[in-house]
Amino acid sequence: MFARFRERLTMLRLASVMLALAARAEPTEQKPAKVWRGATVEDLHRQYGVIFGAHGNRNAASHLWSTWVLDRASQMSASTFVELMGGFCAVSGSIVRPSEYNRYRVTLPTADGAGFARGFMHYCCWPCVCDTQDFIHADSKTIETTDGPRRHVFAVLGDPCAHEEQLDAPFVQPFGFRTTSLRREAPAVRCEGGRLAGATFSDGGHVIVALLFDANVTSTADARAAARARSPATPTPGRLSRDGAGRSFHDELEYAAMCEARAASGYNSGMGEIFRKVAQIAPIRGGARRRLAGEAACPSAEPSSGCGDGAGAGASASASAGGDAASARGDVASARHDAAS
Ligand SMILES: *[C@@H]1O[C@H](CO)[C@@H](O)[C@H](O)[C@H]1NC(C)=O
Repeated sequence: MFARFRERLTMLRLASVMLALAARAEPTEQKPAKVWRGATVEDLHRQYGVIFGAHGNRNAASHLWSTWVLDRASQMSASTFVELMGGFCAVSGSIVRPSEYNRYRVTLPTADGAGFARGFMHYCCWPCVCDTQDFIHADSKTIETTDGPRRHVFAVLGDPCAHEEQLDAPFVQPFGFRTTSLRREAPAVRCEGGRLAGATFSDGGHVIVALLFDANVTSTADARAAARARSPATPTPGRLSRDGAGRSFHDELEYAAMCEARAASGYNSGMGEIFRKVAQIAPIRGGARRRLAGEAACPSAEPSSGCGDGAGAGASASASAGGDAASARGDVASARHDAAS
């Protein structure tokens, strides 16, 4: 009898403790819960409305896709993290179902200027190759997963909020014939305290826009030699290459002529235009590109095209171009970043 009373008392106490806990938990439930059991890119795609919120606009906003996955990486296996990062296009922000048909192999300069990183990216469409070559650098970051920490190489951009006023600069859209601004066309690009809101930053402090899959960091000399060796005799967009591991992909070098033609016609596709405008605001290393892809096909008559080795890419680049060339000469020993995948 007494034992049963005590049992009831304990249950009552337990119930009141649970009630108190529930009451306390309520206010925090207003915030989006970071516990998420998604494991496939389709699961990630279903979060579109949560990630892009009321305006639902993904223009130049793949930093939000990236942050969504990065914020939850500690709840996933190392391989799930890599899989989910393949679910969106770094340039357009549109959803992607990663496959060999949208896998591109690119070689990007590292943000620290020491060398290049070769890896894969998944795109919605080929022009993203050109925009990647023109603006995206590679930088590292270590991510916690349920399998432990993993050091990855990411595709990064300079933080546009370094010059927030440029979001209000008026421009005319190529097709719309109406004056607009990035503030209007890319509402997900917002600044908070001088930094891009919702972004995750790499080791060098740059905005992460995608994962550079299976990336290997090499010296500039090695990267250049590899680019020469694999340069296709007849660039053929759409052709798939195969690497030693039997993996199929599009080599960026197949697109050199198409990227040039696109540049010559003024990048006349809306999505790329918005991305390029955001990426141009505060380019890493002042915009001086040491580009490997399409090096041979560089139009010599157009010094502002961003081609060549350390030569100024556009007016804003001239100041830092010298330093870039200097660091290119000081080829570092090939350092492989362990990109577990
Ligand atoms: C990076 O190196 C690893 C190990 O040698 C290789 O399997 C992988 O294919 C390389 N990545 C690229 C993009 O070539």
